Amino acid sequence: MSRETVVVWDLPTRLFHWAIVLLVPALWWTHQIDRLDLHILLGEIMLGLVLFRLIWGVIGGSTARFTSFLRGPGTVLRYLRGRGTAIFGHNPAGGWSVIVMLLLLAVQVGLGLFVSDEDGLNTGPLSHLVSYESARTLADRHETVFYILLGFIAFHVGAILYYQLVRRDRLVGPMLSGRRAAPESGEAMIAAPLWRFVLAAALAAILTWIVSNYL
Ligand code: HEM
Ligand code: HEM
Repeated sequence: MSRETVVVWDLPTRLFHWAIVLLVPALWWTHQIDRLDLHILLGEIMLGLVLFRLIWGVIGGSTARFTSFLRGPGTVLRYLRGRGTAIFGHNPAGGWSVIVMLLLLAVQVGLGLFVSDEDGLNTGPLSHLVSYESARTLADRHETVFYILLGFIAFHVGAILYYQLVRRDRLVGPMLSGRRAAPESGEAMIAAPLWRFVLAAALAAILTWIVSNYL
């Protein structure tokens, strides 16, 4: 008999995930077709999403919180040797890869803010704070970090496939529907009240607005 299902990922965490999955290729594509105006707009939306996720990692639902999935090296090693306890939410190794991906996205967005294209026509909203030469150097870094991010995304999707095919643990369904089989022991997800979502979204939107228009 299959166990009852309960919520594992709250809606904001899932929306964040699938939004960045759409935005990363869109950001690449808008540069390919030379629509840097759109690229900059989408980049600013990505800034808002990353800021939201960082705030949500502190005040969001329990499985979205950094403290719920960041574990010390001992726990990570035990988990990798297959001696960990059953996991609900990000596992101890996956938790660190989530952090690496969020940091890479944050660095990529941070660099984008200061970048200028070759003729200085399309620039990140903070590029006036640095010289043209620096903005061009940062554009090179923006390109390098993109390839590092791509490498990590490949690793991420590979890990998800490994869980799906080898360990028979389907992770994609829960990231779509939010639900998975209830944990045998321990707590299920504790949802955050709506006002916290409103607060996180408002803070992220205001910060994005200020960075994009007023600095
Ligand atoms: C995760 C978010 C982002 C991704 C994945 C991304 C990706 C890229 C890629 C692949 C390029 C082409 C690099 C090259 O081949 O030269 C590029 C260029 C550029 N990006 Fe982004 N970007 C992001 C965020 C941003 C943000 C937030 C801004 C500014 C608001 C921005 C502004 C620019 C500009 C102005 C260029 C042109 C640089 C040049 O022509 O040398 N990007 N971005
Ligand atoms: C642009 C590409 C992608 C990026 C940047 C990305 C990034 C992330 C991040 C940051 C998380 C942590 C979610 C959170 O707690 O906020 C995550 C989790 C997850 N991602 Fe992705 N992802 C990408 C593509 C994909 C794709 C294509 C799939 C489906 C095959 C996928 C499936 C998942 C799943 C199932 C989880 C939850 C893992 C778990 O159960 O611990 N991701 N991803």
